[in-house]
Amino acid sequence: TGLVTLDSGFKNTGATTSGITFLNGEAGVLRYRGYAIEDLAEHASFLEVAYLLIYGNLPNPEELNHFTSEITRRTLVNEGVKKIFAGFPVNAHPMGVMASLASSLASFYPESIDPHRTPDLVNLTIIRLLAKFPTLAAWSYKNSNGHPVNYPRNKLNYVQNFMQMMFALPTYEYEIDPDVEEALNKLLILHADHEQNCSTSAVRLVGSSQASLYSSVSAGISALWGPLHGGANQQVIEMLDKIHQDGGDVKKYIEKAKDKNDTFRLMGFGHRVYKNFDPRARIIKKSCDKVLNKLGIKDPTLEIAKKLEETALNDDYFVERKLYPNVDFYSGIIYRALGFPIDMFTVMFTLGRLPGWIAQWKEMREAQQPISRPRQIYTGSTARDFVKLEDRG
Ligand code: CMC
Repeated sequence: TGLVTLDSGFKNTGATTSGITFLNGEAGVLRYRGYAIEDLAEHASFLEVAYLLIYGNLPNPEELNHFTSEITRRTLVNEGVKKIFAGFPVNAHPMGVMASLASSLASFYPESIDPHRTPDLVNLTIIRLLAKFPTLAAWSYKNSNGHPVNYPRNKLNYVQNFMQMMFALPTYEYEIDPDVEEALNKLLILHADHEQNCSTSAVRLVGSSQASLYSSVSAGISALWGPLHGGANQQVIEMLDKIHQDGGDVKKYIEKAKDKNDTFRLMGFGHRVYKNFDPRARIIKKSCDKVLNKLGIKDPTLEIAKKLEETALNDDYFVERKLYPNVDFYSGIIYRALGFPIDMFTVMFTLGRLPGWIAQWKEMREAQQPISRPRQIYTGSTARDFVKLEDRG
């Protein structure tokens, strides 16, 4: 076939050119469209960053107003979605629910599956996704609690509206603390894109067959759910709780992580591309201290996380392999402090990553990239003679 190399896991294979996210893993640098992640996290709103990723430039006030109002007026989802919820068991993991609901949007908006869709229609799909995702995410949580859903309130901003849909009750008016809003806004920005990661590659791969953006995003959610990718944020907090319940012996778990006969890995540590501090982890760690202080929460897992980090960073195994805390290491502690149940952590990652998936899908379609179709090296049997069922021993 002329195929001479394999690169299992695409450790050293470029799949595309891209003008969206710059990542230098050796130096720990991350930029969206040329802007440092630190500046965006400090000064921008999540919707400004979404606009930047999707359309290439930071919006001016008029563009941001227009973008925001286009999104705000589409935050309702079709009531038929409630019937889909009703079919899920009460304890369904919200990531599975989100993947199904994202894919169901292609049925509510069937024009999106037309491969000859116009740029205006593509843009409407983009706006609808951004508008409806917080509603679907909050409703998947309400459904898992057996509580009535909250409808969007369009006088609130993106983050405030999401939080009220999550936490308000008919008996309780939820008021968001400005520091909580700031932390959540930051977290969403930090997760918004990360070049050709597993879920983004899934979105591009599905989209390369000209499937709709809804179906492509649904594939991204499924990929993100895995414990080695976005699912790590749930795994981290479960690991920290376990270490805490087990007496807080951090060294024991560091030794387990190093033991090649043990399947345990230090969740929230290591990254395919960062061989230095993940710049997102630095920002989240600071934010974590601030939110816990503000809310007066003493979470023993924060101390355990800090001890784990310190011990690992002074251990030859982690130093030699350049394993540092990644974006997921501290995010779960903040989510828990804000009141999110553990199985919603990866959904929060999904909300943040949505603009990145959209931007990458749009870039790929506009470049008219061909269908993705990797080759293989066949290692199965050579040609065999067929043996009839009655003659097989
Ligand atoms: N604990 C212990 N050892 C580790 C860890 C870890 N968390 N991560 C990597 N290693 C070791 C691994 O065993 C291997 O050792 P050796 O060279 O002796 O065989 C070496 O480091 C290289 O690891 P790898 O698995 O070949 O690297 P990869 O690039 O294929 O995997 C990773 C990257 C993120 C999947 C991996 O570091 C990992 O499993 N980390 C824990 C899960 C996690 O936190 N995932 C979230 C990633 S960041 C959010 C996102 O973008 O999804």
